[in-house]
Amino acid sequence: MTFLDKFKKKKQKTAPVKNQGLSAASVEDKLSQGIVSIQDIIAPSAIEVDFDHIKIGTTYFRTLFVSGYPRYVSANWLAPLINFDHSLDVSMFVYPVEGRSILDKLRRKIAEMEAEIKTDLERGRIVDPGTQAKLEDAQSLQAELVKGAERFFQFSLYVTIPAESLEELNQVSKQIEATLGSLLIISKHATLQMEEGFKTTIPICTDKLMISRNMDTTSLATTFPFTSSELTANEGILYGINEHNDSLVIFDRFTMENANAVVFAKSGAGKSYMVKLESLRSIMFGAEVIVIDPESEYKTLCETLDGQYISFGFGSQAKINPFDLSAVYAEGENELNQKILSLHSLFKVVMGHLTPSEEATLDRALVLTYKMKGITPDPATQQNEPPLMEDLYKALTGMEEAEARSLADRIEKFVRGSFRGIFDQHSNVDLSNPFTAFSLRDLEDTLRPVAMFIILDYIWTRVRKEMKKRIMVVDEAWYMMRYPDSANFLRSIAKRARKYYLGLTTITQDVEDFFATEYGKEIVTNSSIQILMKQSPAAIDKLAEVFYLSEGERHLLLAADVGEGLFFAGANHVAIRVVASPEEHNLITSNPEELLRLAEEKRKKIEAAKAQAKITLTPNLPPDESAFRIETVTPQNAASPAEVASLTGNFRE
Ligand SMILES: Nc1ncnc2c1ncn2[C@@H]1O[C@H](COP(=O)(O)OP(=O)(O)O)[C@@H](O)[C@H]1O
Ligand SMILES: [Mg+2]
Repeated sequence: MTFLDKFKKKKQKTAPVKNQGLSAASVEDKLSQGIVSIQDIIAPSAIEVDFDHIKIGTTYFRTLFVSGYPRYVSANWLAPLINFDHSLDVSMFVYPVEGRSILDKLRRKIAEMEAEIKTDLERGRIVDPGTQAKLEDAQSLQAELVKGAERFFQFSLYVTIPAESLEELNQVSKQIEATLGSLLIISKHATLQMEEGFKTTIPICTDKLMISRNMDTTSLATTFPFTSSELTANEGILYGINEHNDSLVIFDRFTMENANAVVFAKSGAGKSYMVKLESLRSIMFGAEVIVIDPESEYKTLCETLDGQYISFGFGSQAKINPFDLSAVYAEGENELNQKILSLHSLFKVVMGHLTPSEEATLDRALVLTYKMKGITPDPATQQNEPPLMEDLYKALTGMEEAEARSLADRIEKFVRGSFRGIFDQHSNVDLSNPFTAFSLRDLEDTLRPVAMFIILDYIWTRVRKEMKKRIMVVDEAWYMMRYPDSANFLRSIAKRARKYYLGLTTITQDVEDFFATEYGKEIVTNSSIQILMKQSPAAIDKLAEVFYLSEGERHLLLAADVGEGLFFAGANHVAIRVVASPEEHNLITSNPEELLRLAEEKRKKIEAAKAQAKITLTPNLPPDESAFRIETVTPQNAASPAEVASLTGNFRE
């Protein structure tokens, strides 16, 4: 019975039953004819075998076999076939061949070719270059086989193309032949052997065509169908679409050795867009997200997620005290010392360059500041209320050294001057919300690195206090990289984040600034995920050097569109296209035109809801009460549909 015969249903015996007393066996036989078997369920209604194709049910199939291979190949040379943009069944058969018989044959072949060349020479004819090349190949193969460095195999390669219609089948066949042709592979239709061809490419490991070609181990190894460009994991979130083969890039950053990511691209390439999308999708899987947002780009997203949006600036309510202690005690780590070290770095960013004696004075002042609040290296004392900027200022002005006065002057602006009121009071910000964004847009440019530092330090202190799956996004991170001390701080977070279940995402457009110090490179090496999007020609050389980009990858990055780029996860490199659903897009776009349109739509919705509120409220309430209620919905305070909803109880966005 051939394979396809299995699908044929047994013919029903229609002979009339003469004998009423049937034997047990024939009853069973009769019974089984009426029972639906698995074959009945999976069998196609018909199989039609043609010269050049086979039709199973409604699907057409055509099998190609490979009859000629290129002389030289490189690793993964079959990638265009493996990643071909149409489903294909590809079968490869590898037959080991016994070395001794091959050697005998080779010897004979070599002798023949040598004789041919010799006679040509004797007769004064020009030696055939083809024979010469073949002879060299055979001799080197012989040498390798004798040494045992290579082994000998036969290899066959078949491709079956499924298609919905004959036209599609013909078209895809042509494309496949062209693709194979570009690899210098000669392919042919398995004409008149379509049934065998089909059987050869289903996963039952039978080669019914037996069209093979000799190969040594090295050549065979290059046929291995690496699919390194595939990055679809079982868990994780969707990052985008794989540009090589349109598969999905699904990935969980927390499965890597660290969960850090870096994103590099020129301005407007879609960095923030991608990270916002990632944040939105990660939150759905239980991660918490904290964003440092210098451009106020995450506001809409934050509001939609019911997150906490903290804006720093003059007169804003949010306060952070850089002197806060985490109150966690790791073995062998002194919390107060750690804090004083990070305060040193902070004050170097605030005060600029410090001489050694200034640094020593600052150190003494810091220790003193904590001491004044009763806080010492003893963990028990560290529950006390932490000092404030003012306490440090007082400690400095109270010291006798001349440097102390100049140091005090340099932080005066935080205590008395124009920067007062933001970082000189007790912290009132907590990170209990699953989405927290810190906006720095209202701060002036010079204060941004300082603010970023203080916020990061604060987040870091809190993150260590309570361990959760968190992602921390630092947008426009080059602000931090401008000063060696803040750069070093960011690097130390990148290095230690893994221990606290934290994934740090560093976004930057300024490659030059980022790699100005060694710290930038260290952040990159401590990030398992690296995303590169459109680059400017000025930045590409530096990036190519840091990320070891191939020539093709450089071109891809220079020519990339908005939202396109390269996604590196460990050893995997894929070209990726970031796509969002229309709903997601509305939350994360920063295109001014779209933002205006969305704001307008929102306003109209609220108007409509208000109109409805009037209609639904009036009949149910006494006139004076309803008038009062409606009056509360004035344009100034009817900011959100939620408010209107609470009023009407029947509004759904
Ligand atoms: N994948 C994408 N699909 C559609 N629009 C995008 C995509 N990525 C970015 N954009 C749009 O491009 C613009 C710039 O994106 P943005 O993320 O703000 O750039 P960057 O942060 O790199 O400066 C925004 O208007 C955004 O809506
Ligand atoms: Mg941005």
